[in-house]
Amino acid sequence: MSNAKVTLDGTDHQFPIVEGSENEVGIDIAKLRGSTGAVMLDPGYGNTGSCQSSITYIDGENGVLRYRGYPIEELAEQVSFEEVIHLLVWGELPNEERLEDLKAKLTEYAVVDEGIKKILEGFPRHAHPMAMLSSLFSAYETYYPTTGDSEEDVLRVLAGINTLAAYIYRYKEGLPYVYPSKDLDFSSNFLHMTYGSHGADPDIDEVVAKAIDKLLILHADHEQNCSASTTRMVGSAKASLYASIAAGVGALSGPLHGGANQAVLEMLRNIQEGEGDVAEYVELAKDKSSSFRLMGFGHRVYKNFDPRAKILKASADDVLDSLGLDDPLLDIARELEQVALEDEFFVKRRLYPNVDFYSGIIYRALEIPTEMFTVMFALGRVSGWVAQWQEMRNDPAFRIHRPRQIYIGENERSVPPISER
Ligand SMILES: CC(C)(COP(=O)(O)OP(=O)(O)OC[C@H]1O[C@@H](n2cnc3c(N)ncnc32)[C@H](O)[C@@H]1OP(=O)(O)O)[C@@H](O)C(=O)NCCC(=O)NCCS
Repeated sequence: MSNAKVTLDGTDHQFPIVEGSENEVGIDIAKLRGSTGAVMLDPGYGNTGSCQSSITYIDGENGVLRYRGYPIEELAEQVSFEEVIHLLVWGELPNEERLEDLKAKLTEYAVVDEGIKKILEGFPRHAHPMAMLSSLFSAYETYYPTTGDSEEDVLRVLAGINTLAAYIYRYKEGLPYVYPSKDLDFSSNFLHMTYGSHGADPDIDEVVAKAIDKLLILHADHEQNCSASTTRMVGSAKASLYASIAAGVGALSGPLHGGANQAVLEMLRNIQEGEGDVAEYVELAKDKSSSFRLMGFGHRVYKNFDPRAKILKASADDVLDSLGLDDPLLDIARELEQVALEDEFFVKRRLYPNVDFYSGIIYRALEIPTEMFTVMFALGRVSGWVAQWQEMRNDPAFRIHRPRQIYIGENERSVPPISER
């Protein structure tokens, strides 16, 4: 296969075929408009490859997810989140020396300017943490002006998210801030800054730290999803990394994207509180006259079990066991999964549990407030956004992202005087 033929008004046009390293096939239509005057129409971009990327590979049909070739299952079991950050952002797993260096830098850059804290304290305490997070990343630009491409910006963002997430929690709870410790790894530092006592030595539960680390790894990247594409889009205007990440946080906050993990827990809680049983919720999700969807089910790309959901399902059991907890919401989640997986509506549309279905149960066991769930998603995902942003900026084919449209509005008309409107 080398070319694809498009026939328009009886004339044939040839377009090159591009093959990916996993035999994915794309038609390169970069010259389509120039040679035919036509554009492709693909609302929602479900059939559009926006770039060539060597970061993350997903095979949605077979439930496969790999970061730079490594299966997510192996990464989740065998490496730390810092190693995954290095893999995504610097392209390879680090050796010991590189890893130690990265860890040291992640604590060095985790310290945020006192002014950032003042901005945080200007927000109403009841505000959503994702709105706070996005605003604080925007504010980074005012404290750490950037030329756009330096490694320092990258480290500041990668390390900053840890502190910002923890400080947002502390501020909302009315607690004094706990500063990052240089002796702790990323996940333990998050726990220390979030739950530690001001001035006291860190006291970290290893099981909890390991669970957080795994969650961060599973959320680290997912190729050209809505927030990664947003981050690339904003960065393609040569906006700073901070402005691009702030936009990515905004995209992630939506309930159809990162906000789904919060929505899952709220749904399970409603079932628990008797506002309907599992079967009723399944029926409501199938009812086309209702806009309700079963939260945590379905995925734009996975038409098979989300591999992250598989890992988290087992992890939820482990975490609850080791913390000696028995969460009735986990039982409801299992029942819901069972009913949905056997229901023809879900089977036919290949709707399986996604990453958000079980992550909420684990966050809850770790006593992370529901409102903070999407921030936890961002805590992992920032590394993916940074990797995607850098790849876009270093791409030899770099151009500002600027889609076209098919205009369906009024044809030219004259402005009538106001008395005739
Ligand atoms: C993730 C999601 C946005 C993907 O959407 P999408 O790829 O655009 O899929 P579509 O909206 O085209 O859905 C395809 C069909 O499945 C149905 N569907 C998809 N997800 C559904 C859900 N969670 N509950 C009930 N029905 C669902 C749609 O109604 C549609 O049915 P139809 O063909 O009869 O019209 C969607 O599955 C969803 O809203 N899920 C719930 C939110 C969620 O968990 N998001 C987190 C993603 S990680």
